[in-house]
Amino acid sequence: MSSSSDSIPTHIAIIMDGNGRWAQQRGLPRLKGHEAGAETVRHVMRYCRAAGVRYLTLYAFSSENWARPPLEVLGLMSLLKSFLRDNEAEFHENQVRLRVIGRRSDLESSIVRELERVERATAAYTAGQLILALSYSGRGELVQAARAMAEKVRRGELRPDRIDETVFAAHLYAPDVPDPDLIVRTSGEMRISNFLLWQCSYSEFYVTPVLWPEFREPDFRAALEAYQQRQRRYGRVADKV
Ligand code: FPP
Repeated sequence: MSSSSDSIPTHIAIIMDGNGRWAQQRGLPRLKGHEAGAETVRHVMRYCRAAGVRYLTLYAFSSENWARPPLEVLGLMSLLKSFLRDNEAEFHENQVRLRVIGRRSDLESSIVRELERVERATAAYTAGQLILALSYSGRGELVQAARAMAEKVRRGELRPDRIDETVFAAHLYAPDVPDPDLIVRTSGEMRISNFLLWQCSYSEFYVTPVLWPEFREPDFRAALEAYQQRQRRYGRVADKV
């Protein structure tokens, strides 16, 4: 856990919000906003690489997003497929590991196959990680961890009195990934929206009014600068950190 914030965050997590509004402002269908948002993802991966951010988690599709109009859901899923197709070469070139967190069984099987193929193909890379939250819900992640531990207790593999924060965290989707140092949300909304509820305990929050499709390097730099001005105390007093 990094205690000094005068550095580059190890892990940035982003709530990519505002695609729909961006499209609406231009009289375009919402899907055009998501397409432009996928383009922003490509840019942001590069900014992270250039800045030395090692983990980037993107809230690409929440469990609640299934309730959107079927055509929008379909469009987002097909965008995900083309995102994988268009970016796989870049993952290999830059030794970036792709991971997925969320309830992958909710996703169409052809998408799961493709995601898992790229996960396997990039599993040994250590330069950086791109973590896509898909059909993800923070509460859902906590519930599945509780269920996995209950199952171990039932099988006699885990004693209830041994369950502490370390054991709990080991049952999350990506237990080896450090908690996000910085959580960015675009489009001005000041909500966590069921994102990384366990992991965000001591994350710094940065909200920008910029809509996700328009988020570019100066906005990324502004987020880093804001982060560097924060004093991360983790509940302690400043001179003890
Ligand atoms: C929120 O904006 C955004 C989403 C629900 C989807 C995010 C998806 C992408 C950026 C593109 C796909 C990403 C990858 C990694 C392939 P919103 O639609 O809620 O915007 P609004 O609040 O303005 O309506």
